[in-house]
Amino acid sequence: MPVGDANVPADWRAWFDQQRRHVDAEISKHLNVLKAKIQPHSQLLEAVEYSLTGGGKRLRPVLVLETCRVCGGAEASAWPSALAIECIHTFSLIHDDLPAMDNDDLRRGKPTCHNVFGEAVAVLAGDWLIAHAFELLASEKVDPRIAPELVRTLARGSLDMIVGQSADIAGEQLPTDPELVKFIHRHKTARLLEASCKLGALAARASTDKLKGLAEYGNRLGLAFQISDDLLDRTGTTENLGKRVGKDADESKQTYPAAFGIEESRRRAREEIEAAVAALEPFGPKADRLRGLAWYVITRDR
Ligand code: IPE
Ligand code: IPE
Ligand code: MG
Ligand code: MG
Ligand code: MG
Repeated sequence: MPVGDANVPADWRAWFDQQRRHVDAEISKHLNVLKAKIQPHSQLLEAVEYSLTGGGKRLRPVLVLETCRVCGGAEASAWPSALAIECIHTFSLIHDDLPAMDNDDLRRGKPTCHNVFGEAVAVLAGDWLIAHAFELLASEKVDPRIAPELVRTLARGSLDMIVGQSADIAGEQLPTDPELVKFIHRHKTARLLEASCKLGALAARASTDKLKGLAEYGNRLGLAFQISDDLLDRTGTTENLGKRVGKDADESKQTYPAAFGIEESRRRAREEIEAAVAALEPFGPKADRLRGLAWYVITRDR
């Protein structure tokens, strides 16, 4: 199926904004419960709250919720995984911004976590978010029949993301290498988007075929998402993105534009999105919002 506006429902943008607000509200509610229970005698939870709230696009939790719905699952069954994946993603951003990694001072339109709370608290806020993500999947809200598979799926995605991040840092010292760029991007970004889709399908107790189709969609979407992140670092604005642009060249990053050029990177992102949309074929019109998300990934400006 071709990719284009024609496949995207007219109310898609309103739906996505509403889903994001819903995720924001659930995160705030969840943080309020935690703050009433935990007294760390430090700024730990303030740092967690600071990084988790406001500014994020919430793509990963929205993918969990929507893939669950597409597979006929109840929304309540997807929420623990939706919150858990956003915790892992936020941990990855806090650590990604540290001076030892990308050394960034702006994230989600605000000073980075370590700039506000110091490096030690930022490292620990990231650590806390990892552990809490798995705590969420082991909570009484999760069907014990599916909890082990959810844990395995989130662990696999997180481990692959960390492998990708370590290759990304090592790659700063190496000449631009197209094969290495593909490895980095599949690992540091695509695997968590793939995991988001698998978590939604697992929450709905979907068939193996559906799980595989949505995993393929998430993996392809994820690579396109990181290619567009690289492109936006070249062509976007700090105001729209809420993070500094032009950083990848400064840090000698292995990126798609560096390896393939801007036009070829756009073409490859589109190719991935076409493959992502093709993987949705068996789901019919029920998956139109996922098609909308695919289109969004290569047309976004933030
Ligand atoms: C940024 O992810 C890091 C990448 C994997 C490219 P997002 O662009 O999804 O960041 P937020 O959650 O919207 O801030
Ligand atoms: C980071 O890639 C991917 C993560 C796993 C956090 P980038 O380093 O390009 O992400 P940004 O541009 O800082 O958001
Ligand atoms: Mg990085
Ligand atoms: Mg970065
Ligand atoms: Mg980037």
